[in-house]
Amino acid sequence: MPEILNSIKLLQANNKLLNSTKEKDQKKINNNNSFDKILNKTIEEIFIRFSSALRTAQIYEPNNLAFIEQLSPLFTSIRNILANEGKAVFQFQENTLFFNKNRVKFDYISYHNFKFLADEFRKKEIGTVGFEPGLDDENLAQFIVLLANSKAEKENPFEDFQTNLENKEINHIFIVKTHPYEIATKMDDVQVKQSAKNVFFKSMTHMKESFNREKQHKKIHLKTSRRLIQSIVNIISQDESFMIGMTSIKNYDDYTVNHSTNVCVLAVSFGRRLGLNKEELINLGLSAFFHDIGKLEVPKEILDKKGKLTKEERKTIEKHTYHGVAKLINLKEFSYLPVNALYVALEHHLWANLSGYPKYWKRDKVNLYSKIVKMCDFFDSITTERPYRKHVLTKEAALGLMLAKSGTEFDPVLLKVFANMVGVYPIGSLVALNTGELGIVTETNPEVAFVLRPKVKLITDHNGNKIDGEIVDLTEKDPEAEEYKRTIVNSLDPNKYNIQPSDYFLAQ
Ligand SMILES: [Fe+2]
Ligand SMILES: [Fe+2]
Repeated sequence: MPEILNSIKLLQANNKLLNSTKEKDQKKINNNNSFDKILNKTIEEIFIRFSSALRTAQIYEPNNLAFIEQLSPLFTSIRNILANEGKAVFQFQENTLFFNKNRVKFDYISYHNFKFLADEFRKKEIGTVGFEPGLDDENLAQFIVLLANSKAEKENPFEDFQTNLENKEINHIFIVKTHPYEIATKMDDVQVKQSAKNVFFKSMTHMKESFNREKQHKKIHLKTSRRLIQSIVNIISQDESFMIGMTSIKNYDDYTVNHSTNVCVLAVSFGRRLGLNKEELINLGLSAFFHDIGKLEVPKEILDKKGKLTKEERKTIEKHTYHGVAKLINLKEFSYLPVNALYVALEHHLWANLSGYPKYWKRDKVNLYSKIVKMCDFFDSITTERPYRKHVLTKEAALGLMLAKSGTEFDPVLLKVFANMVGVYPIGSLVALNTGELGIVTETNPEVAFVLRPKVKLITDHNGNKIDGEIVDLTEKDPEAEEYKRTIVNSLDPNKYNIQPSDYFLAQ
């Protein structure tokens, strides 16, 4: 197959070019980057501790031992940094943190702590928090408790927070309001959910149209694809949980169309947690969107075959990876696609240990985008009903299966981040509570101590009657009994209960 060999040669040439550019860029960064790595690590630690303390304060009373235990190491870290730097000013800008005007980089694992704090501050319209010498642990504790208890829904959350800060005489901590531009562009909750639905369905329609056009050898409008993915990136930065919830929609139309949209959404959310910037997220989303374009060359009878595939049929399916690269290279608007889209089309069935397919000679590692898309692809596909699949896995069973393949099929570090994103009870799971109620998981809790306590939308009362219930936070405690109000007993297969979790996201 000369066409395929050419595709691979082109990929290898591009890879060399990319690597040499990357090396040059890295050297440039190393030279310019005077921001100390040890200091960066300390700030990461402060964020991990600050977010744990804040989450604990949202649940427990300030005199609770759990809160006090979180506070002490946090205070020590801030005090040390003040002693060395003289001041500690944290500024949040979109998805970036600046410490004393230097950009801070978070690694894969600690990024979600930064995101949590950035979101908490943004809700209160706080753009900058500064700590000054003289700060004591009492001031810090009061500040965190105030932050945990202040309601973001108020009309002037920043002004109210500042007044409280003054009233409580909390000293050596100052705050600055978020830049008016960021507040002006912030959509309210209902608008975000509405936009999420629009973008999701528009993307599916666009994907269907693109596939039809490709079949008729017409031009695919990649500029439109890029614009749509940009909107997906924007929505995910505002309401990731809701957008992930939309991926509970399965087989809405053609399987590949719905699946490709789901994989794109999951990949963008995943990439965001890995700290990719906006441009990289758009490129990742585009790569994910077209990962299965090669399936257009595989006869539908083989794709949907109920029984066992013959060796020949399996080979035909496996060739969709090669066909994908060839198709993408030949697209008229190819320049709107990142080179990574070619890797993803070729490698999204390749295992982390290089088994899987295609058999990929002369290669010792898999492209990062391919690894990301592989995980999202696997997760979405095994949780979707297909003619050839006897058992559709529930989301948590799928995650369990993936964890069992850590280090072989999946990259262990990335899998940890993925597991953290979908949670022990992934968004869209149906769960039974100890109160007898049933609910759908709408938001996971990223704090390790509370992974079993996500937010849940109640869909039946304790007698099993269907209701359009409220969204409850399972970390909520009954103040008198000092016990959790609700706890998950087990998760259920929505198909057996004739429940479509996606309905609950569409009804929002
Ligand atoms: Fe595929
Ligand atoms: Fe796929």
